[in-house]
Amino acid sequence: MFTTDALTGSKPEQYAQLLQQARALLHGERDRIANAANLSALLYHALPRLNWVGFYFFDGTELVVGPFQGLPACVRIPLDKGVCGAAARTRSTQLVEDVHAFPGHIACDAASRSELVVPLVSGDALIGVLDLDSPEPARFDVEDQTGLEAIALAYLESLA
Ligand code: SME
Repeated sequence: MFTTDALTGSKPEQYAQLLQQARALLHGERDRIANAANLSALLYHALPRLNWVGFYFFDGTELVVGPFQGLPACVRIPLDKGVCGAAARTRSTQLVEDVHAFPGHIACDAASRSELVVPLVSGDALIGVLDLDSPEPARFDVEDQTGLEAIALAYLESLA
């Protein structure tokens, strides 16, 4: 049975605890679907005020939805579309305080108001993106970005 301790302390301290939980969860398993599924569940339940957390994988042409928590989502996202496409194309994290103001944002869940998308890049290869959505405007800040980039790296390391 998986149990998790509540996160405590400052936000960076909480992300350090969450990173430890993520590493423990992924330890000893290299399957990218299994690890993406468990990591989505961990993040969705550990972090407050989210309505969607999950993975899109790059199939060589576009992003294809992978394991996630939340409402059913858009299946395929071209790299020139949406926040996820921008993260994949630029290979840089997209922190969007107001998705309605983001040109080309794709509204999979109408409740989403802010979004954080971390690209997953291994060497030269684009693996996909880790996407978090919130119903609250400006839900994510640079501390969330730093914390989730470290967790995305732990995911990539688990596949090696
Ligand atoms: N809003 C995203 C699409 C994915 S969903 O939010 C799950 C985007 O604009 O890329």
